Amino acid sequence: MKIAVIGASGYTGGELLRLLYIHPDIEIHMITSRTYVDQPVGQIHPNLKKLLDVKFTSFNMDKIGSCDFIFLAVPHKASQAIVPDLLEIGLKIVDLSADFRLKDMNEFEKHYGTHSCPEITKEAVYGLPELHREEIKKARLVAAPGCMACATILALAPLFSEPDLVDPSHVISDAKIGSSGGGKSFNIATHHPERTNVIRPYRPVGHRHLAEIVQELNLISNKPIKVGFSAHGVNIVRGILSTSHVFPIKDLTEKDLWRLYRKFYKDHPFVRIIKQKSGLYRRPDPKMLIGSNFCDVGFDIDPEMNRIVTFGALDNLVKGAAGSAIQCFNLMTGLDETKGLWYPALHPI
Ligand SMILES: NC(=O)c1ccc[n+]([C@@H]2O[C@H](COP(=O)([O-])OP(=O)(O)OC[C@H]3O[C@@H](n4cnc5c(N)ncnc54)[C@H](OP(=O)(O)O)[C@@H]3O)[C@@H](O)[C@H]2O)c1
Repeated sequence: MKIAVIGASGYTGGELLRLLYIHPDIEIHMITSRTYVDQPVGQIHPNLKKLLDVKFTSFNMDKIGSCDFIFLAVPHKASQAIVPDLLEIGLKIVDLSADFRLKDMNEFEKHYGTHSCPEITKEAVYGLPELHREEIKKARLVAAPGCMACATILALAPLFSEPDLVDPSHVISDAKIGSSGGGKSFNIATHHPERTNVIRPYRPVGHRHLAEIVQELNLISNKPIKVGFSAHGVNIVRGILSTSHVFPIKDLTEKDLWRLYRKFYKDHPFVRIIKQKSGLYRRPDPKMLIGSNFCDVGFDIDPEMNRIVTFGALDNLVKGAAGSAIQCFNLMTGLDETKGLWYPALHPI
């Protein structure tokens, strides 16, 4: 299969190239950039030197028809500008931007501004295979989830998969994210002396990913869920840990939660339940996930506060972006879901 990566010079674009290079069933046919036309890929992504012999080209609608599948790794707004034409010529697409994630256009406009092709959003499938595997298999357009939304939703989903387990009106989520989550464009806030060593609240209220989290939890539970979501930038390059607090409305034991989480994720290869009594890594920790497509989820019960704490950890550039996108590509093209993605994280890192 001939693949094009649009926006291949960015962080998720580079990660797509790294993972697609390993994938046995594809040929990287076209990689685009506005800034680095004619430069070899290794010039911008030095980790691919001597491995991938391809140059950046400019985006050209006439030439793209020779590809079979498109990954869009560009900012929101840039995707919606080209998706209608790509669909028109019969291409299948996974878009990593937020342009097609939200079904409610009011929510979209609140966070991202106007949308030029809202009708296409209706057919797009939210690209979380753990929730939408069968729809993804049939989709022409998949919107890969936001990285913090992915970690938060996967950690909470089992608790909303059965009726009346936890209070739907009171969910508090708090995500910590590394600097690559902001992409490669820079400003004073991302400048090394300012970004290093921070634990910096970022959008403590009104974060964009909240809309996706609510959309997907509503769908699972069939009820309106109210979530408070805050994000923090922390001193790592890759990785997310999302911690959530939910309040049970019936008695739930640890055994009940084990049963619930095991049942929910039994057919999902990339989600691991981490809750160990001994060892160094007893709870999900992004350090254990760097470079891999796994999302680790976990939970604890606090009987004093009638509270359940959940954890979701992942590498924002893999399971939070390029890895999920390739997982969706595998499903959309009839390949095994794990193809090209079944390898461990780096350790130690
Ligand atoms: N970083 C993450 O952890 C993460 C996770 C999940 C989803 N995402 C989403 O994935 C997308 C890419 O994110 P990223 O982190 O890879 O960003 P990035 O590092 O800034 O890369 C985006 C690339 O897109 C190109 N680009 C920028 N503006 C463009 C425009 N108007 N039209 C066409 N191309 C444009 C740029 O390359 P040239 O200048 O070379 O053209 C840039 O290198 C975003 O929508 C982001 O929200 C990111």
